[in-house]
Amino acid sequence: MNIVITGASKGFGKSIAGRYASSGHHVFLCARNLDVLEETRDEMIAAWPDARVSIQAADLSKKEDILRFAEWIKKETGNIDILINNAGRFIPGSTFNEPEGTLEEMIDTNLYSAYHLTRALLPGMMKQKKGHIFNMCSIASIHAYTNGGAYSISKFALQGFSKNLREEMKPYNIKVTSVIPGAAYTDSWKGSGVDPKRIMEADDIADMIFASSMLSPQACVEDIILRPLAGDL
Ligand SMILES: NC(=O)c1ccc[n+]([C@@H]2O[C@H](COP(=O)([O-])OP(=O)(O)OC[C@H]3O[C@@H](n4cnc5c(N)ncnc54)[C@H](OP(=O)(O)O)[C@@H]3O)[C@@H](O)[C@H]2O)c1
Repeated sequence: MNIVITGASKGFGKSIAGRYASSGHHVFLCARNLDVLEETRDEMIAAWPDARVSIQAADLSKKEDILRFAEWIKKETGNIDILINNAGRFIPGSTFNEPEGTLEEMIDTNLYSAYHLTRALLPGMMKQKKGHIFNMCSIASIHAYTNGGAYSISKFALQGFSKNLREEMKPYNIKVTSVIPGAAYTDSWKGSGVDPKRIMEADDIADMIFASSMLSPQACVEDIILRPLAGDL
């Protein structure tokens, strides 16, 4: 299968990419920093010499980069089986004190990235009448908390997008899954002082996505909600 994964040089995206690449699927990855993305590709090929890993640098908070990335994918592959809208960033803060422009940055990175890339790639998927789209939401998409601010607003919106898309895509046999994880240890937690064993691992999220994409054609996992065993932080 051909799998597109955004924000795939680190964290969840890297783990998801490894899960598919090690199982013989062709992965198409992006991130902003090309050097780190190249390291990720090289690591995968060293671990699994037959892995098919194609990479392209793109800043998905910018519409022109999204469209350029989508054109590159269409040139590289005739059909996309799975699109995983994972790219995202967390800026902590509260509505009343976060710096001016935080909401715009969070919406550009966490919502418009998924919206515009999906719109660019959907016509091909709708034509082939099959496919699966995963949207990386968050517990912050379903649960308000005081340090959520613009991040939480953008993730609520992303889940709204994901839920609508699920309804719209039923006639086209395209599955849509909202992935709703709580805290899991990735680069975004480094330096936080949180014990990695207190929260989940990136591979937990990757394993759930992989398993959800392997069900019968008539089954659609709508939501994947997973939290640390001891609960949210
Ligand atoms: N970790 C958690 O606890 C947690 C919980 C719930 C939801 N999530 C969500 O899961 C997703 C991944 O989080 P993570 O913890 O794995 O983050 P991470 O370790 O910081 O990795 C983020 C990845 O996305 C890329 N990226 C960031 N901004 C980008 C942009 N504008 N365009 C393209 N690529 C971009 C980064 O590479 P570059 O910096 O080179 O671009 C990197 O490869 C995010 O949507 C996040 O909100 C995370």
